[in-house]
Amino acid sequence: MTEGTQSEDRSIPVHIAIILDGNGRWAKAHGLPRSLGHRQGCETLERIVEDCARLGVQYLTVYGFSTENWKRSEEEVGALMSLFRLYMKKLIRVANENNVRARMIGERSRFAADIREGIDRLETETSGNTGMTFVFAVNYGSRDEILRAVRHYAMDAVREGKTEEEIAALSEAAFSGYLDTAGMPDPDLVIRTSGEQRLSNYLLWQCAYAEYYFTPVLWPDFGRAELLRAIEEYNRRSRRFGGR
Ligand code: FPP
Repeated sequence: MTEGTQSEDRSIPVHIAIILDGNGRWAKAHGLPRSLGHRQGCETLERIVEDCARLGVQYLTVYGFSTENWKRSEEEVGALMSLFRLYMKKLIRVANENNVRARMIGERSRFAADIREGIDRLETETSGNTGMTFVFAVNYGSRDEILRAVRHYAMDAVREGKTEEEIAALSEAAFSGYLDTAGMPDPDLVIRTSGEQRLSNYLLWQCAYAEYYFTPVLWPDFGRAELLRAIEEYNRRSRRFGGR
């Protein structure tokens, strides 16, 4: 099989988006604090980044921290931020070892200055890699992203003195260029772990034509075998329905 391209029996989705869920329940099931569930979740994420890169996935977008996650307890948000600081450093190594370029989407200004610098460093130090693009959605919410894009477009329209006709002619492709995911193809396959079957404000615009795969597996237990099952299911469906 040629990885990343169509093969006789399996094609690898160009873009996989993952909603990782179930770290807290995994920790509870093991009698551990929630923070250790998140730590385990980070290790799973590292392995999945490697697996996807090796399979030939071109874009992997993962929901790491939503705009809603700030509502969690101060203790849990604090633990997640500490983990995020450590994880970004580790991710530079994992990304460079796997020729992966990392990119963050979401609104950054709410993060502490050192975290924002960490994000910049991660993007800069992996920008020369030519393999998979790993997109990490942090302080991300799709409605927030769309609203920021609308504001940005409206400000450009005012600044450039666009006419009503020009504004009415705004195309989907041009609007997509204002989203955080500008320049990226839309996800082909969305995977959500832990049995929840919701999009939770994730890539609402971009997932209009995606296939969805829901698994009861909790994120820390998600591995290559389950990833391959999701890809097989995606293949069965796209063969049956011929894509969009
Ligand atoms: C989902 O499990 C986990 C999160 C929403 C946040 C944790 C994200 C990671 C560990 C990836 C790395 C990202 C950062 C920012 C360190 P949950 O807590 O919703 O699980 P539950 O539904 O079982 O409680």
